[in-house]
Amino acid sequence: MQSTTVKDNATDIPILDLNGVSVFRSGKMILKEINLRVSKGEFVGIVGPNGSGKSTLLLSILGLLKIQNGSIRMFGHPPLSKQLFGKIGWVSQAAANLPRDVKITVRELVQLGTVNARNMLKMFGNNNREQVNKSIQMVGLEDVQHIDIGRLSGGQRQRAVIARALASNSEFIILDEPLVGIDRDARNSLLKLLDNLCHEEGKTILMVSHDLTAMRQTAHRMIFIEETIRFDGDAKNFPDLSRLADLRGISHVHENMPSHTHAHTHTHSKEEE
Ligand SMILES: Nc1ncnc2c1ncn2[C@@H]1O[C@H](COP(=O)(O)OP(=O)(O)OP(=O)(O)O)[C@@H](O)[C@H]1O
Ligand SMILES: [Mg+2]
Repeated sequence: MQSTTVKDNATDIPILDLNGVSVFRSGKMILKEINLRVSKGEFVGIVGPNGSGKSTLLLSILGLLKIQNGSIRMFGHPPLSKQLFGKIGWVSQAAANLPRDVKITVRELVQLGTVNARNMLKMFGNNNREQVNKSIQMVGLEDVQHIDIGRLSGGQRQRAVIARALASNSEFIILDEPLVGIDRDARNSLLKLLDNLCHEEGKTILMVSHDLTAMRQTAHRMIFIEETIRFDGDAKNFPDLSRLADLRGISHVHENMPSHTHAHTHTHSKEEE
C-alpha cells in the first residue's frame, strides 16, 4: 500500500497542534481557548485540579469529544483521520483497572496492539512476534508474559497496557493518570521507561498525572491546566503550590494574554515577597 506521509517536511510538522480549542460538555464550558504545540521527542506532563479538564483535553485530541471552537491537528491531520491510524497510542485513566475476569495473557494483550485493519488476517505473523517481544521486553514483563493479566499487580497491568501501545509502534503516546494505584518503585521505573522512549526511540509523550513531584522530575515540559492553560514551560520552572494558587487567582487580570507563550507565568503580585 502506498504511504501517504510527506517525508521531506515531516520534521517541521508538530506532532500535536491545538489552536484556540474550546470544549463544552453538557452545555458547560470545560476548556477555553487552548493553544498547545508539541514537537517530536517531547515529554509533556499535564497537571491540574480534579475536574479541570485534563481528560477532556485528551479525549478531544483523540477525537472522542467534539470541540466547539478552534482546531486540532496531529502530524498535520485532524483527529480520527485515517492518516493517523497506528500513529497514536492511548493509555486510558482506567488502564490499571482492566477487568480481572478476562482470561487473556500479557502477551496476548500486547499482541492486540499490533492488530489493525490492514493486518487483521495475519495478526500472528512473524513481524508481529518480534514487535511484541520487543515491547514486552521494554516494559520488563518477560517473566510474566504468559500469565493472565488478572493476576498481575496494578503496576504490571499498567505496563502491559503501555506495552500494547508500544507494540502498535505509535509515535505519539497519550497517557491519562498511568501512575494511579501503583507503588513507588513501579512508578519510578515506569517513568524511566517513558523517559527512555522519548530519548532513545524518539517517541512523543503527553501524560496527565496528579503526581506533581514525579512529573517535575520526569517531564521536560509541564502544563498546568484549569479551564485553560495557566502555565506552559520547562518542568524545572514549574511554580510551587503557593504560586500556582496565585496563577489561578490572577488569571483574570491576564485574560487576554496568549496562553501558549512561556512568558505568562510571571507572578507579578508576588514580587514583594
Ligand atoms: N460525560 C460528561 N458529561 C458532562 N460533563 C462532564 C462529563 N465528564 C466530565 N464532565 C465535566 O467536565 C469537567 C472536566 O472533567 P475532566 O474529566 O476532563 O477533568 P479532569 O481534569 O480529568 O479530572 P480528574 O483529575 O478528576 O481526572 C468536570 O467539570 C466534569 O464534571
Ligand atoms: Mg481525568
